[in-house]
Amino acid sequence: MESNQIRKLFLDYFNSKNHNIIPSASIVVKDDPTLLFTNAGMNQFKDIFVGSNKPSYSRVVNSQKCLRVSGKHNDLEQVGHDTYHHTMFEMLGSWSFGDYFKKEAIKWAWEFLINICNLDSNRMYVTYFEGCSHDGTKKDIGSYEIWKELLPEDRIIAGNKKDNFWEMGDVGPCGPCSEIHFDNRGEKERALISGKDLVNQDHPQVIEIWNLVFMQFNRSSDGRLMDLPYKHVDTGMGFERLTMIMQKVNSNYETDIFRPIISKIENISNLIYGKEEKIDIAMRVIADHVRAVSFSIADGQLPSNTKAGYVVRRILRRAIRYGYTYLALESAFIYKLVDVLIANFGSYYTELNEQKELIINVIKEEEESFLQTLEDGLKKIQQIIIGKKNEVPAKDVFELYDTYGFPSDLTKLILQESGLTFNEEKFNICMQEQRDRSKKASKRKVGDWKVLISDEKTLFIGHSKLKSKLNILKYRKVENSGESEFHLVFNKTPFYPQSGGQVGDIGEISNKNEIIEVLDCRKENQLIIHIVKKLPQEITSEFTAKVNKRYRKNTSRNHSATHLLHESLRDILGNHVEQKGSLVDNKHLRFDFTHFRKIDDNIIKKIENHVNNKILSNIELIEHKEVLLEEAKSMGAIMLFSEKYEEKVRMIQFGSSIELCGGTHVKSTAEIGPFKILSEGSVASGIRRIEAFTGEASLDYLNNQTNIVDELSTLLKSKDVRSTVENLIARNKELEKQLKKVNLSNTSKIKDNILSKTNIINNIRFIAKKVDLDMQSMKNISFSLRKEKSLFLLLASKIDNKVILSLLISEDLISNKGLNASVIIKDISREINGGGGGQSFFATAGGDKFEGIQNVFLKAREYLKK
Ligand code: SER
Repeated sequence: MESNQIRKLFLDYFNSKNHNIIPSASIVVKDDPTLLFTNAGMNQFKDIFVGSNKPSYSRVVNSQKCLRVSGKHNDLEQVGHDTYHHTMFEMLGSWSFGDYFKKEAIKWAWEFLINICNLDSNRMYVTYFEGCSHDGTKKDIGSYEIWKELLPEDRIIAGNKKDNFWEMGDVGPCGPCSEIHFDNRGEKERALISGKDLVNQDHPQVIEIWNLVFMQFNRSSDGRLMDLPYKHVDTGMGFERLTMIMQKVNSNYETDIFRPIISKIENISNLIYGKEEKIDIAMRVIADHVRAVSFSIADGQLPSNTKAGYVVRRILRRAIRYGYTYLALESAFIYKLVDVLIANFGSYYTELNEQKELIINVIKEEEESFLQTLEDGLKKIQQIIIGKKNEVPAKDVFELYDTYGFPSDLTKLILQESGLTFNEEKFNICMQEQRDRSKKASKRKVGDWKVLISDEKTLFIGHSKLKSKLNILKYRKVENSGESEFHLVFNKTPFYPQSGGQVGDIGEISNKNEIIEVLDCRKENQLIIHIVKKLPQEITSEFTAKVNKRYRKNTSRNHSATHLLHESLRDILGNHVEQKGSLVDNKHLRFDFTHFRKIDDNIIKKIENHVNNKILSNIELIEHKEVLLEEAKSMGAIMLFSEKYEEKVRMIQFGSSIELCGGTHVKSTAEIGPFKILSEGSVASGIRRIEAFTGEASLDYLNNQTNIVDELSTLLKSKDVRSTVENLIARNKELEKQLKKVNLSNTSKIKDNILSKTNIINNIRFIAKKVDLDMQSMKNISFSLRKEKSLFLLLASKIDNKVILSLLISEDLISNKGLNASVIIKDISREINGGGGGQSFFATAGGDKFEGIQNVFLKAREYLKK
């Protein structure tokens, strides 16, 4: 059966048990600062489990896109080395929110596997939780009794907390779980060792396929377990593993989920899968990673240098590196796999089709730039190798990794080719030190919520009010690298929490006795959290909240201007323009969007004017609250591709600009003030970024520009700054020409002077001299002496805080004595902390250690004595 049918089989089966089929949540997590990517099907339901959000349905079924690359559940470096772990995987999940519990969950899981999938029940083993005295949790007798009715007792295994108590992280909803394992080995092997002995032993063919979690606790930060208000079921089955078993193969990569991609890799690399371990690993790495990266890009996460973007970049670079090292693929190729991937997954995950062009472009550009990095790293390795006999310092290998992104396993291979090694232990110490440094920098300890008023939700009133009376519902302490802050949740708040690209509000809360500054406001799933440095003394009293008006106003100006900009871009550049990210704060706005080429300056002016005209037309804001999503769609509202919308949405309209948006806005466009585009550039392939000012910031900017012109006018003593500067440029050019002539005659004098100070070493005319020349003049002098006999001419000069060196070696010395200017300069320039290169007769170098010049000369002399 094809994998697409297997997915459908699962969804249909649970649908027949009254589960609502819901789409996968985005693989990229937006409103939860504790997660970058969805790492389990239950992430999107966390609030439902802890009781802070009500479910729309009590039973649902889905296939969730998950990514696990670090932390509790996976390690990126392992993926590809075995045949059943992945970065991205699909989790087939069935859910009960306070509805049925263990009995139905177990019975239906079994029925699905045995009666619907027709799997051999004799190959199944199940586990249940044995209890934990440390946590005070009891043995899960309930599950055991249910299983006993379905399969023989000797295939029901008690398991410890590690395997049979599921927790999303250190804190949060959790509970005992029961796993279903399948023995996929051949008959012969099964006769030798019982599958029971291999359960949870990391055997590639005796694997866990389904985990049934019975959520009933919430773990607090001190490790204690509290009962959840209701009991829930969260089951998650590995789609890839189920497919492997049903398609009767021994590796996830042999299923039709990965096989077409592997065939394409075979085709591109001219290599065959299944012949050599290293090649197989590389192909598995690439097949896995192209899927993870494509899905992430489709859900709006582009590769970058921070957070989630950095994870995507690391995964993609790992794939490029395996291709480069083990498949000899030295030019971009991964983007060519995207078509095959989409042919397979596009019918269920339609976002892939819709974002196809973007996915291909982004991967291609990222590949090309990393391949260039690899090239640069190779050059650097060649410099490191010079003069080394057995070992190169581990710190150099670490520097290559840290600064050039050059992986150590590749360095190792390259060093091996020159008979060199490095001390891996020392390298690992450098790595560990770096990890410790960043761990220290990012250490965050989140305390438990202290609830003052329970069962109340926060009412957000910040769209219409900037002031209100409030009570604190709960608070917690958070420690960040030694600094502590407090998080407050109110029953009512005018503070806008950071979301949809708009920053959180700042302001204060106060009562008769104290004023507490609110430094930021953020969202954690459905919670609105106010960040303060100091906890109020009378925490249970009533407070008055005041949002900082000026901050909010400037931010709203930028947000409304972003909508006008978005519309103008679509009007002027075309409807292919799609928002790919935005940042709106009180100082400026940043807008990322799809467009495939640089935008000319005159078009930028046109866009700017277009927006300014809308501002001057003073279009009134129409805020449509609670519109049905379908109605909004039919009104042509702009929606963000990667955003998940509720059934009822908020729509912001300024004339023809209509967008779904939760942000804050001006009442009419004239309030935005002058709109000024500051820059336009590329963020990734096919994605452009515009940054702009509005209101106070653009007035400041424009005033500043005018001041500069005024100051220049005073400085130049001219009202017509432009023609005065044009004249100055022309005159400057003329003077440069004259200066060149003077330099030329000076050069010949210097040349005579240099030649008069020759030392003879080993019959070689050795000249090493400090001069006061730029590189071009040093080159001119050296080249004019190229025809001289037995000449070794080393010049050093200081220019703009740098030392520059040039070395000329006459042809006879190259052929008779084997001297090479390029090799020698690389070596001697280390004395000035520098590096360089060139040809055998002439080479140059630069460095920054002036005191090293004398040593450069001494070291050069040594070459003549050899
Ligand atoms: N939460 C469990 C898991 O991720 C089951 O869905 O394994």
